[in-house]
Amino acid sequence: MTTSAAGDATRTPDVATVRSPVPEVHGTTHTTTRSPDAPEKMQAKAVDFWYGRAQALFDVSMSMRSSHVTACIGPSGCGKSTFLRALNRMYETVPGTKLTGQILLDGDDIFGLDVTALRRRVGMVFQKSNPFPKSIFENVAYGLRVNGGLSRPQIAEQVERSLVRSALWDEVKHKLHQSALGLSGGQQQRLCIARALAVDPEVLLLDEPCSALDPIATAKIEELLLTLADSCTIVIVTHNMQQAARVSDYTGFFLMGRLVEFGRTDKIFQNPARKETEDYITGRFG
Ligand SMILES: Nc1ncnc2c1ncn2[C@@H]1O[C@H](COP(=O)(O)OP(=O)(O)O)[C@@H](O)[C@H]1O
Ligand SMILES: [Mg+2]
Repeated sequence: MTTSAAGDATRTPDVATVRSPVPEVHGTTHTTTRSPDAPEKMQAKAVDFWYGRAQALFDVSMSMRSSHVTACIGPSGCGKSTFLRALNRMYETVPGTKLTGQILLDGDDIFGLDVTALRRRVGMVFQKSNPFPKSIFENVAYGLRVNGGLSRPQIAEQVERSLVRSALWDEVKHKLHQSALGLSGGQQQRLCIARALAVDPEVLLLDEPCSALDPIATAKIEELLLTLADSCTIVIVTHNMQQAARVSDYTGFFLMGRLVEFGRTDKIFQNPARKETEDYITGRFG
């Protein structure tokens, strides 16, 4: 069962503390040219989440800015994937889950939206690449065919566009009709990104997309995410802190179901406000 409470005044998120404006510092983090004043594409407000009677998220409030990369970091089991799956209501496929609080997409409560339409706007890429046992072309065309309404040439055009956006086109353009399962792990993950991009989502959620990949394949995906963020809002879960530092504009640090600290990535990594954050990023635990 899922409920969406319309926000309890006693639990108003402390927005001032989560988004203090911090001067840009360029060190280990990438140099963003994206505007710090971009509108909030998604907002979580006072989200609590339960699997049965076990609470997995406690009062999580976080904003994800339009055309920026937001990373969720924290030790295993701290609720990162749960939070990500809340953003497009993917958890609803798990029986016995419950969410309270608000999640907004462009200011609209996602629980007031048709769930299929929501997931078209907020796409998802999983930890383990999961291409269908079909051709490369059909993997990318899948969502377009499900949605219907496009002619064959339009589908072909969108498949190419998505493969170009996912930086895979040059590697596969000569073998679009071969099985996707013949691709390398890194290529399969970029194919899954292309499949998610094919329906032009406004937000792309990625749950540890590189955890099964070698450093070269990982670097390709990271580079791709930086480019994609110009046209799409990205939320990425990673247990790799260097990755968060390299690709994200904003970082949220989760610990035991709570968002301990949220802010600009350079600030979180160079001058965290909370001791727990510092302990984690300096490798004292996790
Ligand atoms: N399907 C599920 N059923 C029950 N408990 C779950 C399920 N998925 C995750 N959990 C629990 O919720 C907590 C947060 O898990 P998760 O969001 O997967 O953390 P992370 O992604 O940070 O490793 C953990 O205690 C985990 O055991
Ligand atoms: Mg996880």
